[in-house]
Amino acid sequence: MTNMRMTLASLLLITVAHVAQAATSPAEFDKSLLPYLQSHCVRCHNAEKQEGEFRIDKLSKNVGTENNPQWLEVMERINSGEMPPKTEAKRPTAAESAQAVEWIAARMREGETARMAARTRVTYNRLTRDEYVNTVRDLIGVEFDAKDPGNFLEDPEWQGFERLGSVLTLSPSNIEKYLAAAEVILNEAYPPEPPPLKKGQTPPEPFGGTKPAVA
Ligand code: HEC
Repeated sequence: MTNMRMTLASLLLITVAHVAQAATSPAEFDKSLLPYLQSHCVRCHNAEKQEGEFRIDKLSKNVGTENNPQWLEVMERINSGEMPPKTEAKRPTAAESAQAVEWIAARMREGETARMAARTRVTYNRLTRDEYVNTVRDLIGVEFDAKDPGNFLEDPEWQGFERLGSVLTLSPSNIEKYLAAAEVILNEAYPPEPPPLKKGQTPPEPFGGTKPAVA
C-alpha cells in the first residue's frame, strides 16, 4: 500500500514536471489587453464582420500558449500601425498601442521560456538489461543472456521504475562487464576463425570472388 502510494506520487511528480506553465491567466488578459481590443479591433473582426477573414473575438486568452501565429499577426499589425486602419475616427494613442504590443510580446516570451523549460533534458542513460538484450538482438542478431549471473548486474529499481536515468548509471565494475559482454557478443556475431569445413564442403570463395563481377 505504501509502495503503491509512493509509485503514484512519483508518477504525479514526473507528470507535473512535463506540463508547461501557462504564460498568463484569462483574468490578466481581461484586465490588460481586452479593453484595447474591444475599443479598437473587435468591431471589424467579430462574428458578424470578419475583415480580412480574421476574428479576434475567437482567439484564446492564453496569449503566448495558444493561437500563437494569430497573436503574432495581431502584434505585428498593431506595431506597424496598419491596425486599426488609419481611416478609423477613434484611433488609439501611440502609447496605448505600444502597451498592447508590449503586453503580447511579453506573453510570447514567457510562453517560449515555458516551452523551453518543458523540453525534456537530453541525458545519456545506459540501457536497462532488457533493453540491452533487445538492442543486441535487433542490431546483430545475437541472443545474449544478460541474466546469466556472470554477466550484468541486476538493474536497480526505483519505486518500480526500471527506466530511470538517475538510477541507471555505470559503475567501473559494470563497465568491465559491458566490455566483456561486447567481446562475447562480437565473437559470436563475427567468429575470428571460419567454422571448420564439413565433409564435402568447398571453401568459400575469397572476398571479391575468383570470377569477374561482370561477365
Ligand atoms: C475599420 C475596420 C477595422 C478595424 C477597426 C480593425 N481592422 Fe484589422 N482588418 C481590417 C481589414 C479591412 C483587414 C483586411 C485588409 C488587410 O489585411 O489589411 C484587416 C486585417 C487584419 C488582420 C490580418 C488578417 C489576416 O490574416 O490577413 C489582422 C491580424 C488584423 N486586421 C488585426 C486587427 C487589430 C489587432 C485591430 C485592432 C488594433 C484591427 N485589426 C482593427 C479592418 C479593421
